Amino acid sequence: MPSEELTRKMKQTVGVEAARMVRHGDVVGLGTGSTAVFMIEELGRRVRDEDLRIQGIPTSFDASVQARKNAIPTFTPDDVDRVDIAVDGADEVDPDMNLIKGRGAAHLREKIVDGMADRFIVIVDESKLVDRLGSKCPVPLEVLPMAVRPVLRAVEALGGEPVLRMAAQKDGPVITDQGNMVVDARFDGIDDPVGMESTLNNIPGILENGLFVGLATEVLIGSISGEGRIEVDRRS
Ligand code: 5RP
Repeated sequence: MPSEELTRKMKQTVGVEAARMVRHGDVVGLGTGSTAVFMIEELGRRVRDEDLRIQGIPTSFDASVQARKNAIPTFTPDDVDRVDIAVDGADEVDPDMNLIKGRGAAHLREKIVDGMADRFIVIVDESKLVDRLGSKCPVPLEVLPMAVRPVLRAVEALGGEPVLRMAAQKDGPVITDQGNMVVDARFDGIDDPVGMESTLNNIPGILENGLFVGLATEVLIGSISGEGRIEVDRRS
């Protein structure tokens, strides 16, 4: 397994590369997570040094804080007619560029913004690649607080193992930016991501799930070469 420092460098390399794909005048979806932060920082550098003019659409409270720190003007999806390019991380990426997202509990807004984008660029280090979605990570579900128990039962009936996500530095559950809760549903491999995405969203009380199917247009994968150099592989 690569060291923390090498993983950080892989994330930084793909984040910077993706930020360089953004053009003057673009409406840009700003992703959430430790990889997306590098992309936002590089966009900030370009705003300062290259007079890059963009409109940022943050996918979370955290992404808007990062955007503000980097002097990137921000708007909501409601303010714009289109998103030219969105850049975001992922927790799993399968060979068809389908994803699991939502470790940061931002998948509801991420799916709105990433789904609006003409180009949705996914940035990951090589540890995120899987043959089958759900083989490592559970599928995060954003759930209305009053519906948590019915949702737990419905996910069990589908053969999943659901767990209410608990906060690390607060008593009780994680609360999303929208004031909802997160249930992590483990399925031990998902054969039909398209079917599972709509099955989950049809359960009353689930506001969105972390399966992103058919949305990514490109994936940038940071990896380490034989000589220990960071390389970027592209899938499209
Ligand atoms: C947040 C997400 C993140 O994009 C995903 O968890 C990847 O994060 P990181 O780049 O920190 O590994 O979906 O909801």
